[in-house]
Amino acid sequence: KPIYVLNGPNLNLLGVREPEIYGHDTLSDIELRCLALLEGTGHGLVFRQSNHEGELVDWIQEARTQADALIINPAAYTHTSVALYDALKALSIPIIECHLSNPHAREPFRHHSYVSLAAKGVVAGFGSIGYELAVRAVLSLVK
Ligand code: DQA
Repeated sequence: KPIYVLNGPNLNLLGVREPEIYGHDTLSDIELRCLALLEGTGHGLVFRQSNHEGELVDWIQEARTQADALIINPAAYTHTSVALYDALKALSIPIIECHLSNPHAREPFRHHSYVSLAAKGVVAGFGSIGYELAVRAVLSLVK
């Protein structure tokens, strides 16, 4: 089954939005590099972004039966969304939380993550490479 990589609000602006924090790579650059890592592993890639909380909930529910693992950068919903947390709790596949920046080195309101309560592990602070680290982590977990 594929690996799902879900991205939350404003990440469609990656590469343009606050590049000093989030870097210059776009989300499609990241998608291509994840795809390259999965080549030959037997896992496909479902890579999506939404600015809408409910759409992310729908995709998490879809991943429950359609994915072997879920990598999620919930963006601002990390710090606010009980709905994403509840949806993630219904999954039995490995969940990896991924952030470009290190939220713990930023404003206090970014220090708490609802999503971490449901995640097997967290990758944060390494910029776009973090997604590749998350894919590698997933591959070692689902092997
Ligand atoms: C982010 C960190 C969040 O605090 C922020 O709201 C984002 C991006 C990251 O990838 O560093 O939108 O998830």
